[in-house]
Amino acid sequence: MPQPVRKRVLSGVQSSGKLHIGNYFGAIRQHIALQEQGDAFYFIADYHALTSLKEAEAKEADAAQKAGKTTWRSAKEILAANVRDAALDYLALGLDPAKAAFYRQSDVPEVTELAWFLATVTGMGLLERAHSFKDKVAKGITPGLGLFTYPVLMAADILIVRADVVPVGKDQVQHLEMTRDIAGYFNNAYGHVFPEPRELLGESAVVPGTDGQKMSKSYGNTIEIFAEGKALKSAVMGIVTDSTPLEEPKNPETCNVFALTKLVATTDELTRLADQYKNPIQDADTRKGRAFGYGDAKQFLLGKLDGYFAAARARRKELETNPERVEEVLKDGARRARAEARATMAMVRGAVGMSSAPAS
Ligand code: TRP
Repeated sequence: MPQPVRKRVLSGVQSSGKLHIGNYFGAIRQHIALQEQGDAFYFIADYHALTSLKEAEAKEADAAQKAGKTTWRSAKEILAANVRDAALDYLALGLDPAKAAFYRQSDVPEVTELAWFLATVTGMGLLERAHSFKDKVAKGITPGLGLFTYPVLMAADILIVRADVVPVGKDQVQHLEMTRDIAGYFNNAYGHVFPEPRELLGESAVVPGTDGQKMSKSYGNTIEIFAEGKALKSAVMGIVTDSTPLEEPKNPETCNVFALTKLVATTDELTRLADQYKNPIQDADTRKGRAFGYGDAKQFLLGKLDGYFAAARARRKELETNPERVEEVLKDGARRARAEARATMAMVRGAVGMSSAPAS
């Protein structure tokens, strides 16, 4: 059999609101880089979003009521806005639709058909062991069947295009192990159809949030990629630091501001900055006698962040005015993904003894 030369890369983008720089340095940057190296498939996970959409609505309702408002977005509006935002974000950040097929998961319904086949070879025990499921239950969320079978749908996302490589964050490693297990169960039962995909972890997997914990929407410690002006400033100024006095040496290696600056500054800039941390009154003359404090470090980070994402911000604004173009990109991506999906389903249906395509 001829071996494909190019690896097939796939990843899913959760459409759950504003992206933050943890998303960027943890995953998106890597996705964009990989489009150069393989046949890439990236999708907006809107079927997955349904597993937590009512909660998202309840949260917004709650926040709105607390703020004295009488209206808030419906689940339907939230989903549509999140999908649109995810599309704009990725395209603005450099996803090139000529290189990667970029689509909405729900535009490739074969995914759900495959999920059924996979569900029939998957044990309950495997799903009961999923961290993401256990975490959500521990948080008091009443699990629906959709949430329980989330890993099966995720396996289908990956296997539907027979992906080899899946760039994800550390938190998704177990889902990848489960995908390999599920692919193996199917192959054992019906003959070899699926490759066993492997995860590809980014180098800077953990980006600290403004409070020093992992940056995460659920911790409320994020810096949004497309924030600008006051919003960006207040996020950066809100980064938690220790209370070392202005004129005393500070340790860059334990500082959240420094950790975040590492992501966006050059090596030279970092060397200089580290020196200022350690010797805060070195250039007292030019700085009118003022020592280097965390406020200065934050100001530097603010400028770097602002510049780092300036081009993406401009592109996003331009795309916002052109929703037809965005829609065209997603439709075209879906056409390409669907061609692969249909080929996979023909193999799957054939393998279990069904006709290779449903009657039309
Ligand atoms: N579960 C992933 C996350 O929470 C999103 C996702 C859904 C995904 N399907 C996928 C990632 C398939 C990689 C491959 O981030």
